Amino acid sequence: MIQYRHLPIIARKVMKVILAPMEGVMDHHMRRLLTSIGGIDLCITEFIRVVDLCLPAKVFRRISPELLNDSKTKSGTPVRIQLLGQDPQCLALNASKALHIGSDGIDLNFGCPAKTVNKNKGGAVLLRSPETLYKIVSKVRELVPKAHVLSAKIRLGYHDKTLAIDIAQAITEAGADELIVHGRTKEEGYRPPAHWHWIAKIREAINIPVTANGDIFTFDDAKRCMEITGCDHLMIGRGSLLMPNLAQVIKDQQSPYTWSQALDLMINYLAIQTHGDQQKYLPSRIKQWLNYLRISYPQATIFMQQVRKIKTTQTMLYAIMTERKTA
Ligand SMILES: Cc1cc2nc3c(=O)[nH]c(=O)nc-3n(C[C@H](O)[C@H](O)[C@H](O)COP(=O)(O)O)c2cc1C
Repeated sequence: MIQYRHLPIIARKVMKVILAPMEGVMDHHMRRLLTSIGGIDLCITEFIRVVDLCLPAKVFRRISPELLNDSKTKSGTPVRIQLLGQDPQCLALNASKALHIGSDGIDLNFGCPAKTVNKNKGGAVLLRSPETLYKIVSKVRELVPKAHVLSAKIRLGYHDKTLAIDIAQAITEAGADELIVHGRTKEEGYRPPAHWHWIAKIREAINIPVTANGDIFTFDDAKRCMEITGCDHLMIGRGSLLMPNLAQVIKDQQSPYTWSQALDLMINYLAIQTHGDQQKYLPSRIKQWLNYLRISYPQATIFMQQVRKIKTTQTMLYAIMTERKTA
């Protein structure tokens, strides 16, 4: 069970909790649902792949319909577009376009470990060359005026951590405003632990705000991560799926959601999707989410067994409502 203690008042005053980009998982429906709970200060979209074209506005709006709402979720949390690519000029043009249609700043993805992305010289593979990162970030900075935040999201390196500081310094010197660090190399994938002490070394070596990311699943994780890294800002990804009100647990002294509250959220999620464009994927999305939820809720494992063959939204909704009555 998650232990609950209070953060020092001073930490809560300055801290920000950012919802992590998660391609294929954290879409605009999920952002809307999780930010409606409260405690999340900023969302970063799943990556938009930039190859050699200036993308049309509809591509940005498909990933982030929040652009039509002043780049905010329904409950008012700002949303920042994330771009992934390797061509400096093309990334710069697309960054400018995203800002033009309303994105709350730009985030550059230098951490994606996917083979296809890395084969095309995008994502984590760029961590092998701080010089290339410098070129990309400075070019993008030219078209992202200082009034807009330019952030970059990195891992600690590709094969190992020897370039971690050089990478962070290159990005800083190129003009980024903020750095988000997932405390693992590309080779380390998602294997625990996240190396928070390396995030501390990076924070000490640069003079822009650093957001710590990786393996924050509980209040105690958040507290230890802040102590070890010295960072005021945290990014949460998987933790926000396995404990939906984690941002408030960390920041606002709330108790973790109960299983019935999690079920209520699932019902809300179905309501969003019933009218949305992904309605047909709904049962598999719920199963994907249950897979995370069962880490916090033993009931989710049993419920998962019951719904594993369900293929339609209506049957899934019925099953969740039935479970909710007895929870
Ligand atoms: C399914 C999945 C999809 C992800 N997609 C992205 C992405 O589009 N862009 C990105 O920068 N990071 C992506 N990440 C990495 C997360 O943003 C985050 O850095 C990582 O999960 C560690 O944080 P956590 O321990 O809080 O989950 C993804 C991670 C997962 C598990």
